[in-house]
Amino acid sequence: MSAFHREKVLSVRHWTDTLFSFTATRDSGFRFQNGQFAMIGLEVDGRPLMRAYSMASANHEESLEFFSIKVADGPLTSKLQKIKEGDTILVGRKATGTLIADNLIPGKRLLLLSTGTGLAPFASLIKDPDVYDRFETIVLVHGCRQVSELAYGEDLVAKLKDDEFFGPLLAEKLLYYPTVTREPFRNRGRITDLITSQQLFDDIGQSPLDLANDRIMMCGSPAMLEELRQMLEARGFLEGSHSESGHFVIEKAFVER
Ligand code: A2P
Repeated sequence: MSAFHREKVLSVRHWTDTLFSFTATRDSGFRFQNGQFAMIGLEVDGRPLMRAYSMASANHEESLEFFSIKVADGPLTSKLQKIKEGDTILVGRKATGTLIADNLIPGKRLLLLSTGTGLAPFASLIKDPDVYDRFETIVLVHGCRQVSELAYGEDLVAKLKDDEFFGPLLAEKLLYYPTVTREPFRNRGRITDLITSQQLFDDIGQSPLDLANDRIMMCGSPAMLEELRQMLEARGFLEGSHSESGHFVIEKAFVER
């Protein structure tokens, strides 16, 4: 049995010069938990060229969705960015990853902190009804350099708000906070600074970070993840894993070429 499922591309959407998303068929045997990633890629010269990608679709959805950067000289993304409807992609049979709700100690507020394509696992998680059962409030933060890079997340949240099932859940529990670092926008600044200064919490009308109630998932820039880890550990937050749940969990964005 091959290590990969061969799936058909169903749609491709280019968001900016450097970002695109696509959907593909999903083998009925491909199971995953929301927030996990799998190896996906293309057959190049008869061999699989694979990189880790978080599923941006939820596990109750029929098709798969991925959100990717484009790197002009990247071995995979230089080719993947050219895929079209009907093309074949490879999807590894096994999904894995730490951004799953079971790795967190129960809490009241869930902070989903992402930069760039690190939003992808949270696109899956905010379509998971179980996440809304577990937490009273979910704060989705997406940090990018430019306003245009927020488009995928803006579109995702807008669609979910209009959804018959998720609309009421989002209205009750989800706070979406996009922020931009390199040009004017209503929310400005790095996620780390916005937490330290409490600006983020002031802007969304919420209480500051607190160990008793807050649980955190983060995905994105390695530098941001490291700073956040140090900041959280200094405040007594413990990192969770499959073996022991904690107050926060981390996944690197797969800034793959
Ligand atoms: P900045 O523009 O100030 O570097 P990148 O494209 O480099 O992965 O960055 C994506 C976003 O993450 C940018 O808004 C960037 O802000 C921000 N970022 C980069 N490094 C850090 C860090 N150490 N802490 C917080 N945010 C960061």
